[in-house]
Amino acid sequence: MSKRVLVTAALPYANGSVHLGHMLEFIQTDVYVRARKLAGEDCVFMWADDAHGSPIQVRARREGITPEALVARAYVEHRKDFDDFGIGYDVFHTTHSEENRRHAEAIFGEMLARGDITSRAVEQLYCPHDQMFLPDRFVKGTCPKCKSPDQYGDNCEVCSSTYAPTELGDPRCAVCGTTPVLRESLHLFVPLARHEVFLRQWLRAPADGGHTVMQDSVRNYVMRWVDEGLRDWDISRDDPYFGFSIPGHPGKYFYVWFDAPIGYIAATDKWCAEHGRDFDSYWKTTTSETEIVHVIGKDIVYFHCLFWPAMLHAAGYTTPSRVQVHGWLTVNGEKMSKTRGTFILGRTYLEHLSADYLRYYFAAKLGAAQDDIDLSMEDFANRVNAELVNKAANLASRCVKFVHQRLGARMSAPAADAEPLLAKARARLAEVPGLYREFESARALRLAIEIAEDFNLYVTEAAPWKLATSDPERARAVCSAAIEAGKIVAAILKPVLPVWAEKTERMLRLAAPLDFVNAGEPLPAGHEIGEYETLAEIGRASCRERVSSPV
Ligand code: 2FM
Ligand code: ZN
Repeated sequence: MSKRVLVTAALPYANGSVHLGHMLEFIQTDVYVRARKLAGEDCVFMWADDAHGSPIQVRARREGITPEALVARAYVEHRKDFDDFGIGYDVFHTTHSEENRRHAEAIFGEMLARGDITSRAVEQLYCPHDQMFLPDRFVKGTCPKCKSPDQYGDNCEVCSSTYAPTELGDPRCAVCGTTPVLRESLHLFVPLARHEVFLRQWLRAPADGGHTVMQDSVRNYVMRWVDEGLRDWDISRDDPYFGFSIPGHPGKYFYVWFDAPIGYIAATDKWCAEHGRDFDSYWKTTTSETEIVHVIGKDIVYFHCLFWPAMLHAAGYTTPSRVQVHGWLTVNGEKMSKTRGTFILGRTYLEHLSADYLRYYFAAKLGAAQDDIDLSMEDFANRVNAELVNKAANLASRCVKFVHQRLGARMSAPAADAEPLLAKARARLAEVPGLYREFESARALRLAIEIAEDFNLYVTEAAPWKLATSDPERARAVCSAAIEAGKIVAAILKPVLPVWAEKTERMLRLAAPLDFVNAGEPLPAGHEIGEYETLAEIGRASCRERVSSPV
């Protein structure tokens, strides 16, 4: 029996719309989960909105609505976007839920009982007008180092130095412009240093065995923080704050980053309750029973590789087996920018182009490394047209149509001279599950395209359309080989383009849904196929035109 696998993507904040940078991660996660399911694994994608925190509370106040109404609105919008991009999550919950409150309180209670919570007074900037303590990003002022005006309270965008908001010159509340005052308040902390031994072991390098899987660059980066000394982590915030009250501490709330990752657990709880599955076998077990895989961006490594495993360990929950970190999305080689028109919302993209093209393009560029991924509009149009349309779809289109229209819709055994190519295609197919399992979707898709290239060439040389009358059996055998290859291509594409695979299943009248094994098993001689269904079509010019319009 294979291990249970639980996969998560970062939980999107409920205070805004998702853009293509978010979609890169969500498509990467979706492809990974679909591939592991297709390989027959017991794999689930547990996901939610991240509903708490100051930005949500401040935005709701500005809009004159409750934070609950704000996050309910975002929830509907996010789900619609994700569904339209074909993201196949098993559950999409919210961190503002009873399950999450219960688990946050339980984890806090466990940590308290084990001595993992301390408290002390902290001095912080407070806006007397808004009557709230100001998070770092809600204070603006003059950089203490380079003296640039209008910088945020945590770091300077001009000289990149980091500092405390109390060091800013001429500080102002970013919400109302009032000069804040210093005020003292009691905060709760997690003394992370208590878990240094555990964290070192959890991060341990591969050579030591039994390690958590993460890219070496990430491991080294996190290890440096541990070497520099682990500081106490402040997990409380003062009223007003949109979050969960901390039991026994009136007026105090859990910091959003305390209960956000607990949202992974809450989502699992909801899904288990709805599907009759055992919650404890996910989150109250060992990594030898259940693999927990988090897909995240570079900016939240600190939370997922220090705080989160320490919390889980302290409270007796299953710790993650793998943290997969992707790079940033750039558009036309630069950071997405509203002024350059390259800040593209998911919804804007969907208004112009098919989700499948972006799914293909991202998956065709993503590997296990943490490299940034560039969405170049020119390259996007070229690759979709050259690979998906002219190679993969073309192979199926020319052969399925021909057999259906000219050869009585019947297949035969593949032509003998195609056998070596088919054997090569099957060998490539055998590599695919392992590649997807290692987040190497670009390499998996490359194999599909190579198969399509090989067989397009084969069909062009064999020219079956010239033989329809003179040697129909040869024509049938050539096309049958190409259709077999197209079936293998569809199976490799399936985690990325599930609709393509479904169409292939329908038009080839397959008895069972395609998977990585049955795709390599030849259809019986005499098998009847159906009519060709368009798999992808887009003209070079129209694709360019349409791609360039959303930006
Ligand atoms: O950075 C973000 O967008 C956060 N909302 C991610 C949270 S991931 C998890 F920990 F909840
Ligand atoms: Zn203010």
